[in-house]
Amino acid sequence: MAGGLRMLHVVGARPNFMKAAPVHAALAGKAGVSQILVHTGQHYDAAMSEIFFRELDLPEPDLNLGVGSASHAAQTAEVMIRFEQVALEQMPDRVLVYGDVNSTLAAALVCAKLHVPVAHVEAGVRSFDRTMPEEINRLLTDQASDLLLTPTVEGNENLAREGIPSHRIRFVGNVMMDTLLRLFPKALERWDGGLSDKWGREDYALVTLHRPSNVDDPDRLVRLMGTLDELSRDLPMIFPIHPRTRKRLQDLSIEPRSGRFHLIDPLGYLDFLALQRHAACVITDSGGIQAETTFLGVPCITARANTEWPVTVATGTNTLAGEDTHALEQAVREVLDGHGKRGTLPPLWEGHAGERIADALTWLTAL
Ligand code: UD1
Repeated sequence: MAGGLRMLHVVGARPNFMKAAPVHAALAGKAGVSQILVHTGQHYDAAMSEIFFRELDLPEPDLNLGVGSASHAAQTAEVMIRFEQVALEQMPDRVLVYGDVNSTLAAALVCAKLHVPVAHVEAGVRSFDRTMPEEINRLLTDQASDLLLTPTVEGNENLAREGIPSHRIRFVGNVMMDTLLRLFPKALERWDGGLSDKWGREDYALVTLHRPSNVDDPDRLVRLMGTLDELSRDLPMIFPIHPRTRKRLQDLSIEPRSGRFHLIDPLGYLDFLALQRHAACVITDSGGIQAETTFLGVPCITARANTEWPVTVATGTNTLAGEDTHALEQAVREVLDGHGKRGTLPPLWEGHAGERIADALTWLTAL
């Protein structure tokens, strides 16, 4: 193709960065491919964005749309308005969108309307819970995208059920694991270089909670924090707090009573990976962390009624504790009793998804 292929990546929020890095690296090795990296600015704090670019070796974004925080409608609309301009100016041959955040859907919709071919990395993932903003983003992004790159066999089945023709779907595996495998040695260096002395003197649980269903309902947040506070007497808790959760805790004046419940600032990729690897268990409501813990063989207790990664429950290390804090407590106690799940790896979670994605994008001359 004259002038080569212009690939434009759109990233916006923390969970996008570890997915884009391996694809960007794989495409950098392809002759005739040029790349443009656009950050929507959905996440803008240094601890939520900048540190990831540095640690993941992602180049500085070529453009930052600076959308920042707003309601779902306002944030999505603002990304659309600003990204439309970029897409018209840059005239990319392909746009890549990642995961399920508002920026993902906004960019995919813009591309669909401009007839710019768009590829969705991490397509077909479903929680079947339409009260989750991410589920709406996932469903609509997949409908708007031309090429659907799936991380699991279930992803292909979900897309087929939704009527997406098979020629638009490629099972490429889980690209998050490419990043995890590549940076694992560096994460272990961080552990040996100080984290182990700070946190590794006894077993601990690593906690992350930020979903609206857990943190925007004051009763639920109070109950969850109370349960974790209580559990920390037997198993210290390390909780790097997402800014939205931090705000909610401040609004409700929630502070742990136990000195073994450590609320800390959000961590970078390497420190968080090191802490995951060495945790007795991870308690989370994140999607990506359910997958990462399965990869690491660390028991994961998910404080949600459903999961978009059912394979991590079926064959991995994940236990769904639902919305019942007693079930959460019970699951942690099982870990303490030595009965945490170990599990096996799903197919194609072996560190080469980025290359398969790059191949899928460059083989197809016309999407
Ligand atoms: C977003 C994604 C979610 C993902 C999460 C990871 C959507 C719908 N949700 O949720 O899927 O799991 O990112 O973090 O896209 N804030 C800051 N600094 C920042 C970013 C956010 O202070 O850099 C605060 C703001 O008060 C903001 C709130 O966090 O209103 C929520 O941010 P937002 O991007 O709307 O959603 P997340 O909860 O981060």
